[in-house]
Amino acid sequence: MTIISDDNNNIHRTAKNEDVTSEETSFDMSFESNIRPKTFDEYIGQTNLKSTLKISIEAARKRELPLDHILFYGPPGLGKTTLAAVIANEMNAEIKITSAPSLERPRDIIGILMSLKAGDILFIDEIHRLNKISEEILYPAMEDFVLDMTTGKSQTLKSIRIPIPKFTLIGATTKAGALSGPLRDRFGLIHRLEFYSVNELKDVIKRTASILDIPVDENGAKAIAVRSRGTPRIANRLVKRVRDYSIVKSDGFIDETTANKALDILQIDKFGLDNTDRTLLNLIAEKYNGGPVGLETLATALGEDVKTIEDVYEPYLLQQGYIQRTPRGRKLTDFACKCFNFKLINAQQSLF
Ligand code: ADE
Repeated sequence: MTIISDDNNNIHRTAKNEDVTSEETSFDMSFESNIRPKTFDEYIGQTNLKSTLKISIEAARKRELPLDHILFYGPPGLGKTTLAAVIANEMNAEIKITSAPSLERPRDIIGILMSLKAGDILFIDEIHRLNKISEEILYPAMEDFVLDMTTGKSQTLKSIRIPIPKFTLIGATTKAGALSGPLRDRFGLIHRLEFYSVNELKDVIKRTASILDIPVDENGAKAIAVRSRGTPRIANRLVKRVRDYSIVKSDGFIDETTANKALDILQIDKFGLDNTDRTLLNLIAEKYNGGPVGLETLATALGEDVKTIEDVYEPYLLQQGYIQRTPRGRKLTDFACKCFNFKLINAQQSLF
C-alpha cells in the first residue's frame, strides 16, 4: 500500500507502487501507472545511475539493512519518482509518496514518519521546499531513526525520544543547490538524473506505444524522440498527441511523416523547442542583443515566473548549449546564433 499526501494534506491510498506526482489527477494515476516501468530491466536510460543503485540495493540486501537515504536531483520529467518506485519494488519494500508542500505542519511529517514500517521507503518530492521545522524533525529520524519530541508545559517541559522503524528516505529536487547543507549531508547517495539520448527516448516511446496499443514504426518513434527535449515525460505525452492526430487525419499508424506533421501542428520544432523556448531565445537576441540579461527581466518579459524558467525551460537550453549563465545574466551562445540565424550587433558596430 502506498500513501500519497497531496497539497491539501489529504492522504490517498493506492495499490503498491502506483507512483504519482503532484501534477497528476487520480484518473491519470491509474492510467499512467500502466506505462511506468516497475523494474530496472523495464526502466530505460540513466544507465550509470542504475548500475550504482543495483550495487547499493544488493549490498543492503546482503547486510539485511535498509538502503542509505538517497537524493535525486535534476530537471523535471526525467523519472525521479518512477525510479524511487522501481527501487521500492526491487527491494520488495513499500513506498509512501509525498511532497514537501504537503508537509507544512510538524504533525504532517510526524504522522508520516510514525506510520512507517521497517524497510519502508519514504519519497519526498520537491524536498528543497521543506520548512525549517519539518527539516529539524527529519534530521534525527534520518540519522538515528528517532523522533525528538517535547511534552508538558514550560516548567514541566520534557524531551523524549521515540524510536521509529529503520526506513529509507528518497528525496527528489529540481534544485540541489536550494537544499540546506545539514539536510544534504544526511543523504548517503546523491545522484543527478541526466537528460535522455534520442535512442533512449525512442525506446521509451516504443515501449509506451506497445503498452497503449499505438502502432508506430522505428522512424515515427525517432521523429517524436528528437522533439522530446531529452525528457521521457514529454515523449510519453507527445506519443499520445501524435496518436490522436494520426487517428483523425490519417490511418492511425505513426510513421515519420505523420509524426512530423502532428508535431508541426503542436508547434514543436526540429530542435524540440516549443513556443516559449523560441520566444525566450528570440527575446535575448532581439531585445537584449544576445545578452547578458537578468532572469527576472526575462521572466517579466515572457510573462512566466522565474521558477518556471529556471526549472522547466532553462535546463534543456543550457544542456543543448543555446544559452549560458554568466554573473551578469543569461547569454546566447555562438552556437545558438548559428542554429537560429540570429544576427547580433557587435559592440563596434553599435557605436556608429
Ligand atoms: N516511461 C517514463 N520513463 C521511462 C523510463 N525511464 N523507462 C521506460 N519507460 C518510461
